[in-house]
Amino acid sequence: MSFRKAATFITVLLVIMLCLSVCASAHNENTASGTRTLTEPKDEKGVEEVGLFDLESKTVLLNSGYTMPVMGLGTYALDHDTCVDSVKTLLANGGRLIDTAYMYRNEEAVGEGVREAMAEYGIPREDIFVITKIYPNQFHDPEAAIDMALEKLDIGYIDMMLLHHPGTNDVKAYKAMEKYVEQGKIHSLGLSNWYIEELTSFLPQLTITPALVQNEIHPYYQEQEVVPFIQEKGIVVQCWYPLGGRGYTAELLGDEIICAIAEAHGVSSAQVILRWDLQRGVVVIPGSSNPDHIRENLDLFVFELTEEEMEAIAALDRGEKHDWY
Ligand SMILES: NC(=O)c1ccc[n+]([C@@H]2O[C@H](COP(=O)([O-])OP(=O)(O)OC[C@H]3O[C@@H](n4cnc5c(N)ncnc54)[C@H](OP(=O)(O)O)[C@@H]3O)[C@@H](O)[C@H]2O)c1
Repeated sequence: MSFRKAATFITVLLVIMLCLSVCASAHNENTASGTRTLTEPKDEKGVEEVGLFDLESKTVLLNSGYTMPVMGLGTYALDHDTCVDSVKTLLANGGRLIDTAYMYRNEEAVGEGVREAMAEYGIPREDIFVITKIYPNQFHDPEAAIDMALEKLDIGYIDMMLLHHPGTNDVKAYKAMEKYVEQGKIHSLGLSNWYIEELTSFLPQLTITPALVQNEIHPYYQEQEVVPFIQEKGIVVQCWYPLGGRGYTAELLGDEIICAIAEAHGVSSAQVILRWDLQRGVVVIPGSSNPDHIRENLDLFVFELTEEEMEAIAALDRGEKHDWY
């Protein structure tokens, strides 16, 4: 081989080796952290990037590959009949996301509302997204807890199941939920009331990265550090008590800064707060038993808060938690 041919051969070899090492490191970047599961969307509605809100389809793509609506209905404290009615009102008015839990004692009512709305309004099951949770006192026998939730809801599968709080046997309970994902009985997994410290120790023990963390968030308790910490991992944040929680809404909805912003846009204080969440990339599940409120809480896409308004609401943070967990 001439010197020239040998030099060309070595150059080509070096280029190939360089390409292979770049590809390998790119692959590692996607998988090594274990916090971002990159999968293809499983339906047609997904936006391109995990965690980014698509305000046109009003959905977010989860790291599980499923899309989830960015606003819905919370059902805490709703009794059976009120819960059925509220779920049906939500679905009749275009809402598709419902949050319940074993602890709310209304999973049957949510299932009933979903089944009736599917039959009466012709909504396909796959357009509806139901979240439920298992409670720490169920973690010792998670399979029984999951089977019970499936039975009570009676809607074929559970779109997302969360662990309601950290507690004894929470890793065991999460791993049981992972098995139900493999069987197709649960689609996506998540956590509730997990903060930076808890997430840091919990996440490395899991096979399936949670798709969502649901925590208390409202203008008086904003979690300004926790929210980006979770979002940077490709995990979607959802807020409970978006309006401050039952018994606390009057002060928040009457806040003079929020009222002034609401007046400027010709919307309600509740809409301003919920829109502020969406613009922070936080999914909202306001609780309501009032059909007018349920409709109002879905109507969040006709106005946009300015940067100054977002900052004015950010300045209302006073670290005021309205519940213990
Ligand atoms: N993971 C957890 O640990 C956890 C804890 C608490 C809650 N959650 C979930 O988060 C959901 C939301 O929390 P939440 O329901 O307790 O509290 P919330 O959404 O902050 O507030 C609910 C209260 O706001 C009122 N409301 C709703 N929309 C309104 C509107 N447009 N204008 C005026 N008032 C309005 C409701 O009254 P009306 O009924 O009259 O509309 C109700 O009194 C719960 O339902 C539950 O699904 C999760």
